[in-house]
Amino acid sequence: MHINRQTLRKALRQARRALCSSEQQHAAAALQQQLSHFLPASTKQLAGYLASDGEIDLSPTLSWCHSKGIATSLPVIHPFSGKHLLFQQFDCNTVMTKNKFGIEEPALNSTKIVELLSHDCLLMPLVGFDAQGNRLGMGGGFYDRTLAPLKNVSMNTTNSARRPLLIGVAHDCQQVDQLPIEAWDIPLDVIITPTQCIER
Ligand SMILES: Nc1ncnc2c1ncn2[C@@H]1O[C@H](COP(=O)(O)OP(=O)(O)OP(=O)(O)O)[C@@H](O)[C@H]1O
Ligand SMILES: [Mg+2]
Repeated sequence: MHINRQTLRKALRQARRALCSSEQQHAAAALQQQLSHFLPASTKQLAGYLASDGEIDLSPTLSWCHSKGIATSLPVIHPFSGKHLLFQQFDCNTVMTKNKFGIEEPALNSTKIVELLSHDCLLMPLVGFDAQGNRLGMGGGFYDRTLAPLKNVSMNTTNSARRPLLIGVAHDCQQVDQLPIEAWDIPLDVIITPTQCIER
């Protein structure tokens, strides 16, 4: 049976929202540990996100990055190109504002924008994942649209147009056997949870 994406989103969002605050804290700390082992030592610029709707919390990971001298950015909804994201530098002094979804994001500052290709890694939130590296998001297509230009850029380190490593981060309860995918869905290179590291 081909399960509908909206039905799946509803069930998986409910599952992650049902985690209590101590489960969330434990998961966030375990994720930071996993990432500290997984991320290449050469990582200089990493994109994260601020958790909402039960998403796994990246606060310990972002603090760890700052302690290691890894610069971090957060997604900002593009001011003109509605359903795309920009990435903007983020640290403890960044002025924040609420976007149209009520999610905190850095107040737009054109001098602080970080080009997509200047990132070493992108940590992406998701609603569901499978062991094949497929990602189901919230349904807006924001990450898919923003990352579509990467389809033609390889991971080859000898190539100057090297693309960032795409890392999906999630709670273990967000895994399904096989996601229904669409042509525009951008696959992940790796999915990291508090207990697993699934490389495609
Ligand atoms: N590269 C693209 N260009 C134009 N439209 C796109 C592109 N990628 C996705 N979309 C549109 O976005 C809508 C939502 O896509 P999808 O259901 O895959 O969202 P999602 O992956 O869950 O969301 P998100 O990327 O925000 O996490 C679809 O209707 C799709 O047509
Ligand atoms: Mg998608």
